[in-house]
Amino acid sequence: MIGVKKISHATYETPDLDQQIEYYTDVLGLTLTAREKDAAFLASTLDHHSVVLRKGDHSSCVRLGFQVALEDDLATFEKQTAAHGIKTQRKSNPEPSIAEMVTFEDPKGTVMEVFKRADFTPQKYPTKGIVPHKLGHVAFFVKEVKKVTDFYCNVLGFRVSDWMGDTFSFLRCGVDHHTINLMQDPENRHFHTAFELRDWGHMLTACDTLSLNGYKLLWGPGRHGIGHNLFTYHRAPNGLITELFAQLDQMNEELGYFEPRPWHRDRPQKPKVWQKDPNASNYWGIMPTEEMRK
Ligand SMILES: [Fe+2]
Repeated sequence: MIGVKKISHATYETPDLDQQIEYYTDVLGLTLTAREKDAAFLASTLDHHSVVLRKGDHSSCVRLGFQVALEDDLATFEKQTAAHGIKTQRKSNPEPSIAEMVTFEDPKGTVMEVFKRADFTPQKYPTKGIVPHKLGHVAFFVKEVKKVTDFYCNVLGFRVSDWMGDTFSFLRCGVDHHTINLMQDPENRHFHTAFELRDWGHMLTACDTLSLNGYKLLWGPGRHGIGHNLFTYHRAPNGLITELFAQLDQMNEELGYFEPRPWHRDRPQKPKVWQKDPNASNYWGIMPTEEMRK
């Protein structure tokens, strides 16, 4: 089957477009690459956009963009998707820098945008804000975690990296331990969007940058057990949670285990079901506050 190889962008509806643009440019350090009346495109360093903002009544993540490889055939991918009984659409020039796109909805109604990236638009490296490497992953609360997990695996080609019990799945589509996270909940909604930083030093300056701009951490810094990444979480002006992370586990697909970055307790660390142990959330001990569930 043709599977997606990378998350390219996430699209959010948000009531106050200007305030959210200011957050992504001045605080996170993304570059505004295109602005339309009710939309904004924001880039990290390589792709034309990693974040798309569209004006809407309330804040939510409504679309996710995924790249297939240049040698993959989009028509074959569309046929493969339709064979699961999923209604697909084909769009030409739907967004800046994207020529052809196949779209369809996942079981919770988020629109999947699958395309090939032929044109790159390297951005000038920004000199203000945090400037993450890239959009790393998007996490959702979902009503039916098993069903949505199966969808990402069977339709888009994701692999399961880990489960926490039977309520929280971590799925990869490339070397990174997770690109999509799904957590069982009474509601379908966005949980957090994560951007990758270089290292611990970058995380320190990121925390200072957040603080100097009036943003307080909701949780962290800490080190997750699952994925082993360093993390901090804060809330963006539109109310959605942003994670900044570094040192996320990377999978060696041929060997079937995650390379230690910098260490693991299981040696080798293979995909598994983690018990509901505080270590799975944070090896450093501090548990998430109720704020993380809001
Ligand atoms: Fe995360």
